[in-house]
This record gives sequence, C-alpha cells and structure tokens, in this order.
Amino acid sequence: MNDTSLTSAQRAEKLEGMGCKRKRVEDIRFVQGKGNYVDDLKLPGMLYGDFTRSPHGHARVKKIDTTKAAALPGVVAVITAETLKTVNLAWMPTLAGDVQMVLADGKVLYQNQEVAFVIAEDRYTAADAADLVEVEYEALPVNVDPLKAMTDGAPVIREDIKDKSDGAHGKRKHPNHIFSWTAGDKPATDAAFETADVTIKEMIVYPRVHPCPLETCQCVASFDKIKGELTLWGTFQAPHVIRTVGSLISKIPEHKIHVIAPDIGGGFGNKVGAYPGYICAIVASIVTGRPVKWVEDRIENLSTTAFARDFYMDMEIACTKDGKVTGLRCYTIADHGAFDACANATKWPAGLFSIITGSYDFPAAHVLVDGVYTNKAPGGVAYRCSFRVTEAAYCIERAMDVMAQKLGMDPAEFRIKNLIRREQFPYTSATGWQYDSGDYHTAMAKAMETVGYKKLRDEQKAKREAFKRGETRELMGIGVAFFTEIVGAGPSRACDILGIAMFDSAEIRIHPTGTGICRLGTKSQGQGHETTYAQIIATELGLPADNIAVEEGNTDTAPYGLGTYGSRSTPVSGAATAMACRKIKAKAQMIAAYMLEVHDDDLEWDVDRFRVKGAPERFKTMTELAWAAYHEVPPGMEPGLEAINYYDPPNFTFPFGAYICVVDVDVDTGVTEVRRFYALDDCGTRINPMIIEGQIHGGLTEAFGIAMGQEIHYDDDGNVTTASFMDYFLPTAVETPHWETDWTTTPSPHHPIGAKGVGESPNVGGVPCFSNAINDAFAFLGSTHIQMPHDHWRTWTAADKLGLHG
Ligand code: CDP
Repeated sequence: MNDTSLTSAQRAEKLEGMGCKRKRVEDIRFVQGKGNYVDDLKLPGMLYGDFTRSPHGHARVKKIDTTKAAALPGVVAVITAETLKTVNLAWMPTLAGDVQMVLADGKVLYQNQEVAFVIAEDRYTAADAADLVEVEYEALPVNVDPLKAMTDGAPVIREDIKDKSDGAHGKRKHPNHIFSWTAGDKPATDAAFETADVTIKEMIVYPRVHPCPLETCQCVASFDKIKGELTLWGTFQAPHVIRTVGSLISKIPEHKIHVIAPDIGGGFGNKVGAYPGYICAIVASIVTGRPVKWVEDRIENLSTTAFARDFYMDMEIACTKDGKVTGLRCYTIADHGAFDACANATKWPAGLFSIITGSYDFPAAHVLVDGVYTNKAPGGVAYRCSFRVTEAAYCIERAMDVMAQKLGMDPAEFRIKNLIRREQFPYTSATGWQYDSGDYHTAMAKAMETVGYKKLRDEQKAKREAFKRGETRELMGIGVAFFTEIVGAGPSRACDILGIAMFDSAEIRIHPTGTGICRLGTKSQGQGHETTYAQIIATELGLPADNIAVEEGNTDTAPYGLGTYGSRSTPVSGAATAMACRKIKAKAQMIAAYMLEVHDDDLEWDVDRFRVKGAPERFKTMTELAWAAYHEVPPGMEPGLEAINYYDPPNFTFPFGAYICVVDVDVDTGVTEVRRFYALDDCGTRINPMIIEGQIHGGLTEAFGIAMGQEIHYDDDGNVTTASFMDYFLPTAVETPHWETDWTTTPSPHHPIGAKGVGESPNVGGVPCFSNAINDAFAFLGSTHIQMPHDHWRTWTAADKLGLHG
C-alpha cells in the first residue's frame, strides 16, 4: 500500500472496506462442504443421547420404568428427573426469570415434552432405547387456547407456582397468568378515542410459528473429571450467556467452562436460549465420564425448541375524518406455552412490542399485554425479529389498512399523511421510544415511483370492474407496508438478560506485518460476519480486509458479549469494532508523529496512512506503523498495537423500509401468485451491499413462508399437528417469488459509523406487506381482515365466506 502512484480513491478501493460488495470469505469453506458444524464433531469415546417424549399434551406422570431401556445392549445410562434431582438440575431457570422442567417432574405440560434421556454407544441404539422407556400417564384436561387460559375452570398448567401471587411485573390475575405489562398513556389515549371522528377495532392474530434453521439445535458436552472442567460445543447464538447461565445452574466455576460455537447453520432466534438437551448432555457426561452428543431431529425442533409469536392483538385506532391518526389502543394476550422461556430483555416481558405506533405520528397510545400459560411448548423467541417487533409491525400495518379502508382512502396516501416527518427526528413516540433518524417520505415516494403505484391501482380498478361483470375470476391485490424497526439491544439502561447488561465487544490485535485478528462476542449463523467486520476495520484502519481474520464463538478467546440475535451485531459489535479501531489508530498516530518528527496535530489521515499536513509526500502507512509498534515506539509508550472495546450503545437504531407487493388471487382455487415484491430498506450506512441484499432475500423468503402458510397448530387435545415439513410450510426455490430490492441511506447519528441493523427488517416488513396484499384483493368486497396464514385453502375459504362461490 506504499504505492504513491495510486489516488486516495484507488487505494481505498483496494482495501475492500465499507461499501464494497466484497465476496463472503466464509463461503470458501461452505461451498466446498468444509464447514465445521457441531454434528461434524467426533470425540474419542463419545456417547449419544436421545429423549423419550410425552405423547400427551397434559398428564400426570404416575411411573417411569427404565428397566427395559437400560437392558438394551449399547445403552450406558438412562436419566430421569429423579437422577437430575441428585445434582439439583431437575428444573432450570429460563431467560425470562421463570423455571422450566428439564425432564418431566410429576407432570407433562405439552406434547413431546422431555421425559427421560437415554445415553448409548450410538444414536440408533439411543433412539431404540428411548422407545423402551415405559411411562404410565394419567391424562389431564388440556388448554391450548390462550383466550381461555384465564377463565374460571381453565386447567391449571403450572401447579408448581399456582399459589404464587406476584409475577415478574406485578400481581398475577390467575394461576395461568404470567405477567401484565403496559406502556403509554391510558387517560390520554382514552380521551383521543372519545373525541375521534372515526375508529376501528380488529382482533389481529399473529399465529404461533417456528424458525427453520437448516441445522437443528445440538451440543456435545465433555466433562473432564480430573480438571473439573466442562467443554461445551453447541449451536449457540450467545455463547457467553450459555457459559454464565451454565455456571449458575451447574455451580461449575465459570472459568472452568469452555463454550465453543463452531459454524452454525442458521439460528433465527431458535438458538439463543438453553434447552433440556444441553443440561442432559452435560449431566450425562458428568455421570458417564465420557463426551455426550445430543442432536435433535426436525420434529423435535419444530415441536419443542423455542417457537415465536402467538400474539392475539385487539387493536384499535382513532382518527380524524380527514385521515389524521389521533390514538392507538392495543390489548394483547401473549401465549407463552407451559414455561415462560421467552428470550427478552428482562425489563420487557413483551419485548419491544410498544414500538407498535410504527412509522406514524400518533399523539397518544396505550398498550397492555398479558402473558399466559397454555399446554404448548415454551419459547417466544425473536424469529428473525427484535423482541416482538414483528408482531407490532404486523399489527399496526394491518390496522392502518383497515382504517384506510374505512375512511375510503388509498392505503399509501393514508400512510403518507401520517408518517413521521424528517424534521421531527430524533422523534419520541407516544410509548416512549426515541427514533434516531429517518426520512420516511423520501423512501415511500421512491418505492411508489419505482413500482408505478398509480398505474397499478388503475389496473386494479379495471380488474375489479371486470370481476364484477363476471369477466374474470381473478382478484388483484396491492400490499403496502411501511415499517420501522428497533434494533441493537441494547442500551444497558434499558436492556439486560438476567442482570447482564446488553453491551457487546470487539478485541483487535494488529500483528507486526500489518495483518490482524478481531475477536467478538457476537456469533454469525450465516450473516457473513467474517466478511463484514473485516470491512469496518479495513476502512477504519486502512488495512486490506483480506488481512484481517475475524473470530467469534469461543468464550476462552472472545471478549464477553451477548451474542447475535435481533440484528444487534452491527448496531452494537459493529460499533465496538469501530471504537476499538479508533483506539488503535490514536496510538498509531502518536507513533507516526514520533517517526516523522512532527506533532500529532500536524498529521492528517488519508485512507491508509498518516501524512504531514501540507506535505503529503511525508507519510507513514498503517502497515509501516504496525511494524514500528513492535520496535520503534516513542519513549515511554507500551509496544504493541491492539485494543478492546466494550460498547454500550446510547440508543437502539431504527432502520425502516417501504415495501410493496402485487398478488393475483384465483377466487375459485385460492391459489395466490406473487406477481411483484419490491423492498426498499434503509439501514443507515451500508457495510456490504451484497450481503445486505442476501439478508433481504433470506428475510423476505421467511416472511413469505410465514404470511402464506406457516403455523404451529395444536388440536384441542394438545396434539401438535404441524411438527414436520410435510405439514409446516417451508418455501423452496419453486414457490419463492422474485425479489426487487432498493435502498435509501439515512445514517444513525449515534452509531460510530452510522450503521443500523438490517438482518430482520425483511421479515418485519415482509409479513404485513404480503398480508396487506391478500387483504387488499378482497377489500372492495367488504372484507376487512383475513387472518394469516394465507395458504390457498384459507384464501379459498375467505372467498367462500364472501359468497364468491355461488
Ligand atoms: O445481528 P445480525 O448479524 O443478525 O444482523 P445485522 O447486524 O443486521 O447484520 C447482518 C449482516 O448484514 C452482517 O454481515 C452485517 O455486517 C451486514 N450489514 C451491513 O452490511 N450493513 C448494515 N448497515 C447492516 C448490516
């Protein structure tokens, strides 16, 4: 990089820093099948575990007989709750401050709950023996309907806490009640509704869904009895949290626990929390003295590890007759299943749901959420979402359409009238969030112009006339969604998990030859962190991105961090990376001043070097300064060139987007074709436009899956009827529509490089956009709200209810 013949711009381009469509460095191993996943790990003497699971949704466990299972050749041990009680591990704490059975202790509370853990010489023997564990059950009444959970006579799910009067956030209203949580100003909101010209009220349900990472949850536990040390390899989105929680649960000192998350094949929130499989593998390794592997299968993944959503939102909006919103009220029942294992910051049992006013300037709002227990699997994770933002965005975006319909206004025009204006930022919402930056009207205008919105509406009008005349059986729907996200958990004043503040970290070491390594507390599950963190360093330090290794997922080497979920890596660890670079750069500047025999202030930064102001031919490149840091530092200065930064963000970041979707619905079959899907995203400064596009494609595909078919469904007896990909919709390349992506750039004013998160935006904005498109197709026939998922059968049924089948 010492080439003086190159311009600054040419030198900057060679670094492949921020803004470059740098190819993903991790793909070199992934496309060659050389990734290293948990199930690739084979340790000498390793054993395999598998679960006996409950066939009942709710039942008393009268007796467990493990004799036949234990007698099967190859079986080493069978663990039940009684075994776990001897090490005080029959129950474990959840991230939400509740407790959860590791193995059934007296009762089972949902179908497929873990009852016994069989450890054998191979996976097949373990599975066979799991079937031989004999369990005597006494079936109990089941409730899988959250709206009935707090009624008189509803079966009490959690007998262990039935007399507990206080929840985490106030008094419990019923033995099946978990928490009540509220935000906003109730009197002001009620007053807005009393004086409103127009109001709408709609029960909007976001069904229970489940993330579908390619790789399921799994771990290998290896306990070294001599050293008293535990090494745990696993699919962990937050390895340090697993180490701390693991130490608190097991009482193994934290420095004797080594948590390693190797390559992870997708997470989407599913791999944040701790599961019984981890505890059982650890106990099994302690008991047997051998490493133990636990790998769940797809049915186990879909039916027992953490679900998402399951929100029942009774939503109201108040408005003037000319279309200005004046108030928002939402009462929500949140179904948390049998244990409250929700992955939320402690202060926010309903996550960041109070972002529900979305992108609109509501003068008053009030939100109340009641969490309840039912006979379903626990969870409540942020499935490609930041702590319940997706539920909020879906609710407000559907409700805005319902109100536009009532007012007789175009949904886009109604939104434009109410979007927060650029000059209002930083904007404080009626529920107390301070939005950092935004230029919503520019984004909306660009989206509408690019898709030719007016022309599309004209075409739709003509088609509706033709439909009424009986000339076509196809309806055209145009979905509009404008969403605001809240990502980057988080500022420690607002966010902690079990008392651990939600900062994050980066440690950078620059080696003498000008290459370096960056270690972080986050953990990529496919987001391309090895590529993009290096790009931040390249721009900040003027070293080629190819010269920077990025390492995550080893608690022995990485500084403490809270992991990757809720699009927090860029807002928090991206900031930590830039700040660590700035410490290094400040030291390099002092070394440069010493070498060039000038004052620090006489130097200026130019892409990859410090040069003397007014004498640009006198400079020291960062590569030269790295070498000097190890042998030519100013007197009194410590040698070396490294820095660590723990970054506690001053605020969340608020990415946003304008999405438009066009669908054609055949009313006789319910078959829906997505004709177009346009997504404009604004995530502030863009680090790698190609990776961003990949994130948008992936998130939109998940949004398509959720909106058009996904639901974890239970029948009235508590049987989960959608526990495999035969019944749970996972879109393939065949069904997935073509995506059109676009962007505007409104940097975050408080982030060191102006970047906001992006990973989950397409899921947050995509789901309401699809749903609005389907609903829009039927709106002119008087339909207000058709619940998700919009699979062909339900769409046909919606058409039928409107009398379209004669
Ligand atoms: O926390 P997570 O990695 O899931 O989400 P993210 O922070 O939104 O980042 C997802 C990927 O997009 C990472 O590789 C980021 O570096 C990249 N990204 C980007 O290139 N520019 C942004 N402004 C935000 C994210």
